[in-house]
Parts: sequence; structure tokens; C-alpha cells
Amino acid sequence: MQFILNGKTVKIDPVDPTQTLNDYLREDAGLTGTKICCGIAVCRACTVAVQDSPGLTPEPTRSCITPLVALEGKSITTVEGLAKGGELHPLQKAFLENFSFQCGYSGPGFLMASYCLLDRLRLKPISKDDVEGAIQDAVGQHICRCTGYVRYHNAIRQVILQTPGLTI
Ligand code: FES
Ligand code: FES
Repeated sequence: MQFILNGKTVKIDPVDPTQTLNDYLREDAGLTGTKICCGIAVCRACTVAVQDSPGLTPEPTRSCITPLVALEGKSITTVEGLAKGGELHPLQKAFLENFSFQCGYSGPGFLMASYCLLDRLRLKPISKDDVEGAIQDAVGQHICRCTGYVRYHNAIRQVILQTPGLTI
């Protein structure tokens, strides 16, 4: 099978039909930024961004329940793929500035879900009044055992409001 991982083409042969995307990322690709916690689709710590085809917005995807074989031809972005040219992504900077995380375990999931939200807003900007609801829709089901919810929301709101073209 073949897919794109953080901008690079990956070919795998043979493919283990029982392997999850999370196991592949962490154990085979060495990308341990994507976390594993509940393993049963509840906490969303394992969220990555998956784009079905070029031009479509990436969707937040729980890697713990996604079989690797389901990624044929798709493009996956993990937290390791966010920084470009040594520069952190604006969301990463905002998470740091707002002290959004403590242990950090939930951070990559929050990052990748909000990364997908930014991409959606680029195509379909929303009014400033709707920002809070959009953030809640994007990350409201993510669990942070360190209870950094307010600071995560603050950081995401800051990036949305400061990035031209995301709000109208
Ligand atoms: S590890 Fe909890 S949803 Fe995937
Ligand atoms: S920062 Fe520790 S679980 Fe969220």
C-alpha cells in the first residue's frame, strides 16, 4: 500500500491487516508524538489529520481505531508534520504562550483537531460570534487529564482571531 505521511510518500509491502495507524506511527515510523491512551476511541489523544485526496480539508482521525490499510492513497499529518523550516506552527506557538498543556499528553490530539479546524475555516470563514462554538465542536470531546481545557480554548481562539481570512 502507499500513502503520504507528513509530506513524504510511504510504501509498505506486505501490510499487516490487523495493524492500527497508531501502532504503525509509533512503532514502525518512530513518530511517537501521536499518543495512545484509552485505545477505544474515547479520549482523542491519538488524533491525527487525514486528507482523503488533495484539495479536501483534512479530517481529525483517531489513529487508535483506524486500520492502517484504510489509509491507502490518503495523506496523513501528525504533530511532527506541523512545524515548517524549523518554525513552529502558529497553533504550537499559541499552546506554548498560553501554557495550554501541563504533562503534554493530550497536546498532539488538541493540536491536530484544531489544525483541521483552521483548514475548514480557511475554506469557510465564520463570524467572530461563532468561534467559541466552532472550537467546542472541534475539541470539545478531547480529554485532558491535567484539565487544561480553558487554556487550550484560549490558544485556539487566539490563532483563529489573529489569522487573516478565518473569520468574517
Ligand atoms: S487513544 Fe483514546 S481515542 Fe485513541
Ligand atoms: S496536558 Fe496532561 S493530559 Fe492534557
